[in-house]
Amino acid sequence: MTHRIGVLLSGRGSNFEALADSVSAGRIPNAEISVVISNKPSAPGLERAKSRGIPARAIPSKGLEREAYDRQVVAVLQEYKVNLICLAGYMRLLSPHFVAAFPQRILNIHPSLLPSFPGLESQKQALDYGVKFAGCTVHLVDENLDAGPIIRQAVVPVLDTDDEHTLSERILKEEHRIYTEAVNIILEGNYKIAGRRVIRSA
Ligand code: GAR
Repeated sequence: MTHRIGVLLSGRGSNFEALADSVSAGRIPNAEISVVISNKPSAPGLERAKSRGIPARAIPSKGLEREAYDRQVVAVLQEYKVNLICLAGYMRLLSPHFVAAFPQRILNIHPSLLPSFPGLESQKQALDYGVKFAGCTVHLVDENLDAGPIIRQAVVPVLDTDDEHTLSERILKEEHRIYTEAVNIILEGNYKIAGRRVIRSA
């Protein structure tokens, strides 16, 4: 069976490209990215998808109530028979309708060691707070902001010389690596969820 992945993004799309590279190289076996959707018609990630021959759809969210918007997105994901959804820089909360349509099959990548620094500008939040270790997290998505059981994390030391840009760059490299690992964990299915813990079977 081919796993059919849908990617949602709002911007640049480097995490999408990292996943697409992993699929092409066989690092995510038996899978395809079936569709890329953006709430921002100008998102560079859409062009990146098109240039790889992947169907790319802009579904503008402006002016729409959350659930009405999500119903449109869910319909397109169902049209493409998607069975795993990867949020890749998708800057919107999902409605209960969306989450219920794909139980335990929606992943998000976030540029901090959650539960620290959810929300926007997480790398700046980490620098401002003065933490010595930052990082990134892939987690299952629920209706809350940057919440849901954690699948994978990577730690990135904060250097005294770091600014927001240099720290973000090093975190991004780790994002690209752990997103593929997390997708494989979920697609292989060798895990159980106990409370908030995602525990892998031997
Ligand atoms: C990434 O750093 C991702 O972790 C972050 O947006 C960036 C998107 O970059 N996501 C969030 O902050 C979600 N809360 P990309 O478009 O190049 O993948």
